[in-house]
Amino acid sequence: MRNILILIAVVLIVVLTSAWINEVERPADVPTAGTIGLGDPYFPELGNGGYDAQHYTIDLDADLTNSIIGGTVTIDAVATQALSAFNLDFAGFDISELLVNGVAADYVRDGRELTITPAEYIPDATAFSIAVTYSGVPGQNTGLTGLPFARGWTFYAGGSYVASEPDGASLWYPVNDHPTDKATYSFIITADSAYDVAANGILQSITDEPDGRRTFHWESEHPTASYLVTVNIAQFERQDDTVVDDVPIRNYFPVTVAEQAGNTFSDTAQMMAFFNEVYMPYPFEAYGAVVANTRLPFALETQTLSLFGTNIIQDRDANFTISHELAHSWFGNHVSPLTWRDIWINEGFATYSTVLWMEEYVGQAQTEAMLLDWYTRVGSSDVVIGDPGVRNLFSLPVYLRGALSLHALRAEVGDEAFFDILPEFQRRFAYGNASIEDFVAVSEEVSGQNLGAFFDAWLFSAALPALDI
Ligand code: ARG
Ligand code: ZN
Repeated sequence: MRNILILIAVVLIVVLTSAWINEVERPADVPTAGTIGLGDPYFPELGNGGYDAQHYTIDLDADLTNSIIGGTVTIDAVATQALSAFNLDFAGFDISELLVNGVAADYVRDGRELTITPAEYIPDATAFSIAVTYSGVPGQNTGLTGLPFARGWTFYAGGSYVASEPDGASLWYPVNDHPTDKATYSFIITADSAYDVAANGILQSITDEPDGRRTFHWESEHPTASYLVTVNIAQFERQDDTVVDDVPIRNYFPVTVAEQAGNTFSDTAQMMAFFNEVYMPYPFEAYGAVVANTRLPFALETQTLSLFGTNIIQDRDANFTISHELAHSWFGNHVSPLTWRDIWINEGFATYSTVLWMEEYVGQAQTEAMLLDWYTRVGSSDVVIGDPGVRNLFSLPVYLRGALSLHALRAEVGDEAFFDILPEFQRRFAYGNASIEDFVAVSEEVSGQNLGAFFDAWLFSAALPALDI
């Protein structure tokens, strides 16, 4: 009997120890540091490996007098490996506290890389939270060598806006800054009572603070890429437009120009109804425009709330830009680029969306004249729009030749296949990311044609192919 007990004990010890050795030796369980970038061909250090951000709570005070923002950003994430350390993208500001799962963590900063070593390692596939408390003037003391493309949070006399495409998000909040890591967002933004705050999604509440300021709570319930996140502060008038197929349209215009702006944006509902038919029903909870109370040399398709400058109000071609930004809701926001090299998925399609809208609502002759004009304008460019390079990300050929290439595809496969390809592409990559190659594959599948040579000529060669407009 005693011998049998000893035998059982020995067997148990052997079995348990070998299980334990297996456990510690399985590579997935050895905590290592997440990578400092995701290897984007244009911005290899944007984004970080080892975790997936799920939700951001952006709780910030904005001091419009001193151009300072400060508060706490909390990130709910899930580890995709056992993590001994991991990075966020974040540049500038003074960090006063950094907690992982509520416990102070070590961190070091280098340019826009914030490397965090939690007190305890994070096992693979577990949820964890990071809370970063910081304040400062956006864009100051970033330690960045060379200018970022976009500035993120920007103050102007009487307000502020956020425009981050492609790499400005980390200049105002700590973030996994790559379009492949989309997340949902809560915004809790406090400002002086003279101001209104408009952010992505739906306004939940406005709370009066004991000190006389006001706190605006916004929720954005659909996955959002970091470059599409926006917070806008100014003296705004909110204008509610028509509800289109259950989607409310709400615009935020500077009070001083609200009436003119209302006229400028009066076709938004009709445009949305059109794209709902051509692409698929609008994929987010609300839409609208925010007009910052300053001139801007660009507009930006910030999700559910496109950003414009006051110059849009006098623009004779305002509907061109307005339909362009709205169309990004499908191409860019709902289906986002897999890497920044895939910018054609955004700009080629948004630009061609305006062409489709013009055919319907402006007229065939004028639309064709515009396409012919574009064809001559991009004829001598050597930008390869399927791989334009960082410097040419937003160059004219990406937009105009980008749109012409879709016009050419339509001629190549016929209207029926063409207008099946677009919704199929939307469905297949819903709320996710797609590369140019993904679009080529859907086009070939839906049309049943081999389109390799076609796309090589239009997207991956400098010479402009012939086009019968
Ligand atoms: N995506 C914007 C558009 O609708 C362009 C943004 C330009 N970005 C920039 N950094 N200049 O076309
Ligand atoms: Zn665009």
